[in-house]
Order: sequence, then C-alpha cells, then structure tokens
Amino acid sequence: MKKKLLSMALVAMMVAAMFSACGKKESTGMTVNDGVLTMATNAYFPPYEYYEGEEIVGIDADIAKAIADKLGLELKIEDMEFDSIITAVQTGKADMGLAGMTVTDERKQSVNFSDSYATGIQVVIVTEDSDIATVDDLAGKKIGVQLATTGDIYSKDDFGEENVEEYNKGADAVMALKQGKVDAVIIDNEPAKSFVKANEGLKILDTEYVTEDYAAALNKDNTELLDAVNKALAELKEDGTLQSIIDKYIPAE
Ligand code: ARG
Repeated sequence: MKKKLLSMALVAMMVAAMFSACGKKESTGMTVNDGVLTMATNAYFPPYEYYEGEEIVGIDADIAKAIADKLGLELKIEDMEFDSIITAVQTGKADMGLAGMTVTDERKQSVNFSDSYATGIQVVIVTEDSDIATVDDLAGKKIGVQLATTGDIYSKDDFGEENVEEYNKGADAVMALKQGKVDAVIIDNEPAKSFVKANEGLKILDTEYVTEDYAAALNKDNTELLDAVNKALAELKEDGTLQSIIDKYIPAE
C-alpha cells in the first residue's frame, strides 16, 4: 500500500513537472483524485462545521470551498468521527483534514499541517450554580470532553484519566453536564459559546485553559498540496476573504 502510494506520488510528481514545464496551471501538480478535493471533518463543531439541514456549513467548510475554488478543484466534504480524520488523511481517503484541528507535535508525526488560519482556546463550561470558578477548581472533578481532542489529551494529563469522560461529540459532553454526569466540559471556545447559547443554565469560566492554533492536516507525501493550500490560504488572508468568512459565522460581540 505504502509502496503503491509512493509510486503514485512519483508519477504525479513527474506529470506535474511535465505540466509545469509547459506552463499549465498549478492545480495539475497536486495528487488529488479526479479534480476533487476531499475534506475530512467532524461536523458537530459549530461554528467551524455543523449541519444546516443536509448540508455541512461553517467556517472550515467555507474556507475549504475557497481553497478548492482557487485550486480549480471541486470540494467534497466527508463527515466522520474526529479521531478518524488523521487516519483518513494518512491513508489518502481524504486529501485534507479541516476540523478546527489543533496543531500538536504528536499529530505532526502523522500529518503535515498548513499555516494556521485561526486561534482556538480550550475553555471550561460549567453549570451556572457550579462551585467551580477557575481551572484549578477542576482537581478531583469529573470532566467531559470530545474523544481524542486536545481538551481530552490535556485534561487527562492534568487531572488524571480517571476523572475524564470521553464522548464522541462535544454536544454529548454538554448533555452529560446538564444531566449532572460530569461537573465540567473542556472544549474549544467557539463551540463552547454556541453550546452554552443553545442550552440554558450553563456558563463559560473566565479563566482560559490552553490557547492553540488551528490548521489543515495534509498527507505527508503530498507536499505539493501542502504548498498549494498554504499559497491559497495566504491569498485568502491577504484579500480579506478569510476574515469575512470568520465574521460571517462569528458575529462581533
Ligand atoms: N481543537 C481541538 C482538537 O484539535 C478540537 C477539534 C474538534 N473538531 C471537530 N470538528 N469536532 O483536538
């Protein structure tokens, strides 16, 4: 499998070299299938990705569409569990993981990350009547998280595995908090805001837990795509498109 992928990459690189020699457009240099850019995500993470009816929308969906447009590719979004995204990118099932995904050293061993396009902050959600006021008060409490997210990884480190309950979706962790099964939820700030807005009786602590960078995850062998995505992102930053996408989904307070 590895070998086959490698030789495919080689052929693609040769074809790319041929095309660029005749001055064809750069999108021909990337190893994506049939002109389709397949994005892997977990669409339960508003406002970055979520369902509006049948359609997956959000900041990441719009950014991916803008990138695909720039590269002359059609965008296809595949929804999956968050902990499957890296594998999908590694195995070539998807070309790009875009999921409010935090850049970490550990993940860098499995995928390449693009330049960062947003900042995330891990925050703590509690019930309005909670006696938890700061991150330090979490010691010995039950913490709900989304499986395999940085919130999961960091809180297991800091507060002990036995105190962390993992859920497939962030919303399930929030539900558990409402039902009193956990005392707090650690999750990214924007989804946290949207969950707190959608559920009565919850609040976000003022003290932030961890600040991190979001980026697109790409296959280690496809450095042409990495370069192309970075170039597209830089253009989208430069011409204001990125900011207008963010403003569309995160209205100024
Ligand atoms: N930023 C966190 C991480 O990378 C959470 C991302 C969760 N994303 C999602 N689409 N469910 O681990």
